[in-house]
Amino acid sequence: MNAVKTQGAQSVLDFDRTLISRVDMTGRVVIVTGANSGLGFETARRLCDGGNDVILACRNEGKGKDAVDKIIKANPNALATFMQLDLADMSSIRNFVDQFGATNKKLNVLVNNAGLFLNLKDTHRQFTKDNFELTMGTNYLGPFLLTHLLLDNLKTTGAETEDARIVFVASSVHDGTHKMFKKNPAANLDPEDLFLEKDGMYNAQQAYKNSKLAIVMATYQLAQVLEDSKVTVNCLCPGFIPSTELVRNAGSMKKFMLRYILGGMFRLMKVSRTLDQGVRAILDLISNETLKGVTGKYYVDMKEVRSSEESYDEEIQKKLWELSARYCHMEGYEPLDAPPPPPPTEETVEKTKTKKEVEPEEKAEEKEEIEADAQEKQKEENKQEEPETEVITKPKEEEKSEPEATPTEADAELEVKLEGAGEPEDLKKAAAVEPQQIAVEVTAS
Ligand SMILES: NC(=O)c1ccc[n+]([C@@H]2O[C@H](COP(=O)([O-])OP(=O)(O)OC[C@H]3O[C@@H](n4cnc5c(N)ncnc54)[C@H](OP(=O)(O)O)[C@@H]3O)[C@@H](O)[C@H]2O)c1
Repeated sequence: MNAVKTQGAQSVLDFDRTLISRVDMTGRVVIVTGANSGLGFETARRLCDGGNDVILACRNEGKGKDAVDKIIKANPNALATFMQLDLADMSSIRNFVDQFGATNKKLNVLVNNAGLFLNLKDTHRQFTKDNFELTMGTNYLGPFLLTHLLLDNLKTTGAETEDARIVFVASSVHDGTHKMFKKNPAANLDPEDLFLEKDGMYNAQQAYKNSKLAIVMATYQLAQVLEDSKVTVNCLCPGFIPSTELVRNAGSMKKFMLRYILGGMFRLMKVSRTLDQGVRAILDLISNETLKGVTGKYYVDMKEVRSSEESYDEEIQKKLWELSARYCHMEGYEPLDAPPPPPPTEETVEKTKTKKEVEPEEKAEEKEEIEADAQEKQKEENKQEEPETEVITKPKEEEKSEPEATPTEADAELEVKLEGAGEPEDLKKAAAVEPQQIAVEVTAS
């Protein structure tokens, strides 16, 4: 076994998580945001299988209820509940917290998982209900407000159980030196321009980077604020996982390439992580007994690692905190409202029209993709080396697994390979874009 000793945790790639002693999760109340698909759904499902009382906080009622049904169908004893939450709408967040409060449940763990990643080519800013730039609003400001509104509840549980936790799902792309930014360099986060209003500042890639950086910075600040409580807060990058819905905003061809052609390549090259690995990394922060009391850390592959240099700038952290609290109209801060979005330009109107016109075609394509996806997922599930529910329920025998390159090393390796002469020509043609371009885009997450 190639176990790497780190602060309590070990690598998702070389260590069987089930050997680490776990906090007894039975009956613990866990909120998972964005729990209707991808990492959120799998995390919620496994938490339910481990006896937790799980609230699936999803923006779409149909999708949220379907997710709950799916969990309960497979496990009739599962304690899974849907509650509506749109992180791109402050009133929805407040409403969610009120409704959760009315249940009188004591919250043990909050998993801020939900997130969106817009089409990288999209240079038109979109907005939340409160006029925040959409990516920053959904990925960061929404979870920031949600977390703060749930803090009293978490503190009460922390005082009673000595262990309440907040987990933020960030991304290695919070780092402006990530190779994704090689061709299109990222700027540092400017709290004075949180919504990228300045000329030429906005692109979806920069917005995603900033939103994930803001999560890491808020984790560090919140850990200080919660110092004297029994509530911990940590964040992680789950790794690049092409099989989730995060790439939904990419074009159909790219999605296809990513999932069925490059996805396989990435797996072989060990650049990407499986859904199972990503979920285990999240579960680790939720339930690893040895992480009790550990706070204000950033994890990749279950190892505590340093985040980007930029993320440790305390002055920016503090400015960001103050600004976020003001935008979220939090008690004790002078409220600040985001300016109304600029009127739509001819180009955006045209784009919306074109989108509407192509919608039926896209829907048909999407349907085919969903069917193909379902088949692919089924195949992957059949391939799983271990029953997933055991991940959080029973200790298992130690298993040997291949050590893999860290994402950075693997990313570099991938880039070299794609730049090299052996690049498959037909692959390029099929994608109608440079594979390199896809690689750079997809390693974004
Ligand atoms: N997959 C990766 O490679 C990767 C890598 C690094 C980090 N991450 C992070 O991992 C997290 C989970 O992503 P995923 O890969 O599992 O993608 P996913 O399958 O697309 O899941 C994202 C979830 O977020 C929800 N969401 C989006 N906007 C929301 C809003 N306004 N309010 C409430 N929920 C909202 C989505 O709900 P709808 O279905 O209703 O849209 C969905 O349930 C994200 O934070 C992502 O940034 C992913």
